[in-house]
Amino acid sequence: MIPTSLPDSLIATLPGSSYTDPGGFAQEQEHIFETMWFCAVRSSELATPGAFRTVEVGRESILITRARDNSVRAFFNVCRHRGARLCAEEAGEVKRAFQCPYHAWTYDLNGKLVAAPNLTKMPDVGRTEFGLVGVATREWLGYVWVCLAENPPSFEEDVIGEVITRLGDVEAIEHYGIGDLAVGRRIVYDVRANWKLIVENFMECYHCATIHPELTEVLPEFADGYAAQYYVGHGAEFGEEVQGFTVDGSEGLDRIPGVPDDQDRRYYAITVKPQVFINLVPDHVIFHRMYPVAADRTIVECDWLYLPHVVESGKDVSRSVELFDRVNRQDFDACERTQPGMSSRMYAEGGVLVPSEHHIAAFHDWVNERLGTPRPQ
Ligand code: FES
Ligand code: FE
Repeated sequence: MIPTSLPDSLIATLPGSSYTDPGGFAQEQEHIFETMWFCAVRSSELATPGAFRTVEVGRESILITRARDNSVRAFFNVCRHRGARLCAEEAGEVKRAFQCPYHAWTYDLNGKLVAAPNLTKMPDVGRTEFGLVGVATREWLGYVWVCLAENPPSFEEDVIGEVITRLGDVEAIEHYGIGDLAVGRRIVYDVRANWKLIVENFMECYHCATIHPELTEVLPEFADGYAAQYYVGHGAEFGEEVQGFTVDGSEGLDRIPGVPDDQDRRYYAITVKPQVFINLVPDHVIFHRMYPVAADRTIVECDWLYLPHVVESGKDVSRSVELFDRVNRQDFDACERTQPGMSSRMYAEGGVLVPSEHHIAAFHDWVNERLGTPRPQ
C-alpha cells in the first residue's frame, strides 16, 4: 500500500480504477473528447468533394466530407428518420449525396435532406429541419479538427494556444509547413491500454534510457533518463556523429526549407491535449492522433509527413519511419505492460511520480478538473 503521507519529493498518481472503470471512461468521453477540439482526419484524405471518412469521436460516429465549395463538413453519422447509421464504411466517396441504406432518405454534401421516398405525402417533414446535424470543424496543420460541443471553446486558445505554450511561439511550428507536407507512411496501432497511460508515457523521458536504445543514440541527452519530452520546447540536439533522424543515425531526407538554422538538427516533441502528439525534426514531422475506444483500448493513428517531392519521387523513407515506429512499439509495449497492473488491488490507490515526472501530476490535475473531481488535498 502507498503510505498515506508521501515524502515531499514524491507525488501520488491517479488511482488504478481511473484506468479501468468503464463508467469513468464514459465520463472522460463526455467531458473531454466530446467537448474539446479533436483532431480527426488528414485534410488530404478528403481531396475532392464527396470524399468522406467516418471516425469515432468520444461515443459518437462522425461523418466528415468535403462539400462542392471545397469546405469541410462534419455531421453526426445518424439518419434523422429512424436513426440508422448513415455511412458504415471508414472511408469512401459519394458522387453527390449520402443515401441512408434503410429507407433511402438522401442528404447532400451540406447535410441538407434532398430526397425521401413519399416525402410529398409528408408535408410536415421540413427538408432543412431534418438535415444532418452538423458539428464544428476547423482545418489546421493539414488536419480536420472537429468539436462536438454545442458551443465550441476557442480553437485559438485551446489548440493553437497550447502549441504556443509548448514551443514559445506559433512560428516554431509554422516553419515546418505541416499543412503542405505529404503522408509518406501511416501506421495504425491498436494499443491495449488506457489513453492516459499513453499520454503519461509521452510526457516523460524517465523511461528513455531503459526502453529506447535507438532514440537515445540519436538524442544523447535522453540517455540520462531525465529529460522530459513534454518540456523539450528548446529542442533536443542530435548527437555529434548523427547525420539524420533515422534508425541508424544515417542521413535523412531533404530538409524542410522553412526550418531555420536554430531549429536544425533538433527534435521537438509536443502534446496538444487531449489526443495529439507531434514530433518535429528537420526533414519530417511525425503526427500522432489517439482514438480512445474503451477504458483499456486506444487506437493510435500515426502519420510520417515529408516534403511532397520526397514522397512523389518514391525516395526511401523507411529508415526514418523505422526509428519512430520502434519508439512507438517500445512505448506501447510499456503501456500494455502497465495496463493489467491498474486493476491489481495493490494499485487501488495508485503509485508515485518522481520529480522529473511532475508535469504528469499537472496532467492528472487537468483530468480531474475536467471531470469535476479535484484531487483531495
Ligand atoms: Fe434512415 Fe429511415 S432510418 S431513412
Ligand atoms: Fe518513449
